[in-house]
Amino acid sequence: MPTNKHPYPNNPYSRRKDEHMALATRFTGTGNQLNQIHFVHQSLPTVAADQVDLSTSFLGQHFPTPLYINAMTGGSARAKVVNGQLATIAARLHLPMAVGSLSAALKVPALAETFTIARENNPDGFLMANIGADKTVADAEQAIALIGADALQIHLNTVQETIMPEGQVVPNWRAHIQAIAAAVSVPIVVKEVGFGMSRDTLTALPRIGITTADISGRGGTNFAEIENARRPGRDFAYLADWGLTTAQSLLESQDFPGTVLASGGISDPLQVLTALRLGASGVGVAGWLLRTLLDQGPEAAEEQLRTWLAQLPQLMALVNAANLSALKKQPIWYDEPLLSYAQQRRLS
Ligand code: FNR
Repeated sequence: MPTNKHPYPNNPYSRRKDEHMALATRFTGTGNQLNQIHFVHQSLPTVAADQVDLSTSFLGQHFPTPLYINAMTGGSARAKVVNGQLATIAARLHLPMAVGSLSAALKVPALAETFTIARENNPDGFLMANIGADKTVADAEQAIALIGADALQIHLNTVQETIMPEGQVVPNWRAHIQAIAAAVSVPIVVKEVGFGMSRDTLTALPRIGITTADISGRGGTNFAEIENARRPGRDFAYLADWGLTTAQSLLESQDFPGTVLASGGISDPLQVLTALRLGASGVGVAGWLLRTLLDQGPEAAEEQLRTWLAQLPQLMALVNAANLSALKKQPIWYDEPLLSYAQQRRLS
């Protein structure tokens, strides 16, 4: 009989998700390089904080602010609690939110409630479903229906699949994504999970029907470290620094003809501003929010996000930008490592 402590027995997903959540609080990354991008200081601004318009549009929707809560949980009793708490925060602050990968619920129907709690706690909010690129059109439709999703995230996680013994990188991901994009009725975002996206990856997306990408770069949650830590051999320990940072990925995305969303190690409002300056239409938080929530509780996590939302217009005024399109024209400069990267990749 399922007990309260183990309500979803005999499934591999709950244990994996609980380990991911616990390890995500330990492997917090070494920096997404957004702090290597600087705004040129302006001493005589003409914009006041209360005149700033932070609104933005992505995935067919207009949002009052550019922040969103990225995919993390669902799939275990602990994850249900966290999903519920995140959804309550999203509802109160009017933030879009993604649940974690729904493949667990597709395989073990009893786990569905660990995701649907997000819709229960946020009935009218913008909620994104999340699946891997190995999934079929039927899986995608089921995932969307399960939580009444307004959009679908499809994650690309080649590094994780390489390290996990049960993992599989299948070269037909493009065909799967293209089929899903042609079939489902909600907008789709293809996202990384913390290893960033190259210009080459981004160039491939429109050809398979994808016009929104979350570059989710290196520098925050590190799934190479997390997967290695789950195994005694740590067989792929040398992949700890794999991937493109969030800043590098945003440079790689400059020619992307669609909408760019940015995530990966976002841990303060200035990083949000910098990512927006580099072309992002929305900025996602994951690991930082999870750590704050688990360490300090959901009220503290909500309060800190409120502080971010209050400080963002102040920072916009500081750089003299009344709205996000004005922000994208503000002068910036790069520290040498990032400048060198841009030059080597011929991105600047
Ligand atoms: C994730 N992330 C993730 N992404 C995804 O597409 N599906 C998923 O199921 C998960 N699961 C997950 C669990 C946990 C505990 C964390 C912390 C993260 C990845 C997440 O959405 C994001 O892309 C990366 O974590 C990078 O952002 P941060 O964490 O550095 O802000």
